Amino acid sequence: MKFTLENQVVLITGGSQGLGKEFAKKYYNEAENTKIIIVSRSEAKLLDTCNEIRIEAHLRRETTDEGQVQHKLAAPLDLEQRLFYYPCDLSCYESVECLFNVLRDLNLLPTQTLCCAGGAVPKLFRGLSGHDLNLGMDINYKTTLNVAHQIALAEQTKEHHLIIFSSATALYPFVGYSQYAPAKAAIKSLVAILRQELTNFRISCVYPGNFESEGFTLEQVTKPEITKLIEGPSDAIPCKQACDIIAKSLARGDDDVFTDFVGWMMMGMDLGLTAKKSRFVPLQWIFGVLSNILVVPFYMVGCSWYIRKWFRENDGKKAN
Ligand SMILES: NC(=O)c1ccc[n+]([C@@H]2O[C@H](COP(=O)([O-])OP(=O)(O)OC[C@H]3O[C@@H](n4cnc5c(N)ncnc54)[C@H](OP(=O)(O)O)[C@@H]3O)[C@@H](O)[C@H]2O)c1
Repeated sequence: MKFTLENQVVLITGGSQGLGKEFAKKYYNEAENTKIIIVSRSEAKLLDTCNEIRIEAHLRRETTDEGQVQHKLAAPLDLEQRLFYYPCDLSCYESVECLFNVLRDLNLLPTQTLCCAGGAVPKLFRGLSGHDLNLGMDINYKTTLNVAHQIALAEQTKEHHLIIFSSATALYPFVGYSQYAPAKAAIKSLVAILRQELTNFRISCVYPGNFESEGFTLEQVTKPEITKLIEGPSDAIPCKQACDIIAKSLARGDDDVFTDFVGWMMMGMDLGLTAKKSRFVPLQWIFGVLSNILVVPFYMVGCSWYIRKWFRENDGKKAN
């Protein structure tokens, strides 16, 4: 099944901000015959996002060749209805059922679904509250699980492209991500099973590295120093760049998708009983075998030593 933006009904969860919003913009601007439904919990954010996308598109159309915007305030905005929103807490199964009933009634059952809803509270395990722990599973796993189940029930025979957003931390879980990485690893496992069961579906799984978004900015506030040290100095890429890389990769036919080469390498190192569906899989496998013999054991020893040293020094500082 080819990935194309045009002539679709696309459901985007987490469409009110970050990558979900970037995808909504992309579909709106690049695919005139596609209907877009964005979903998240906050109605105010959804409304703002819809207005922003419509106004930006309208202003772009009014831009002259010299790049100046002609503000024709009296000109009506593009009111043609192809961008919809629906406020819904997708971690609640009954609410997702209601969403799909509404979509069915409006003849808006999606042909593509992007499960972008997600978010992390990066903290050391002892610093997390019970609420944080529950949110980790609710936002990152249940939102995707519930939507995938409703789509699977709705589309018993028709083709469907389900695009699920995991994280590079599913391939390499490390200190500071106890609230988040396990839920993203659960998504990886769910994807492997759905690929076997939902034979009329194309199921893609994205493992992004860091990219700029409202959620990412918030994460930086609580992210422990040791987590930042392990992540290294690599900057988050712009959200639009991440969106374009993912769309290109899907169009090329990849179903395990990365936003950088590090993601591809990490999946190679993650040898195991799941079929890989990225580019250059044989090369990835050879790289995985060699790196598991020559690099991974030494890296892991060094990494454990580094983390223990950090805890010793920082526990020492607290005690003083
Ligand atoms: N940014 C990164 O560096 C990065 C790296 C790896 C993976 N990812 C993953 O990529 C995806 C997009 O990331 P992002 O940074 O763009 O996200 P973000 O800015 O944090 O936005 C998350 C979206 O999810 C919605 N949401 C949260 N809980 C929900 C719920 N229970 N029901 C419905 N909607 C819900 C939020 O809206 P409301 O608050 O209105 O509900 C918001 O629209 C996420 O799955 C994230 O885990 C991100």
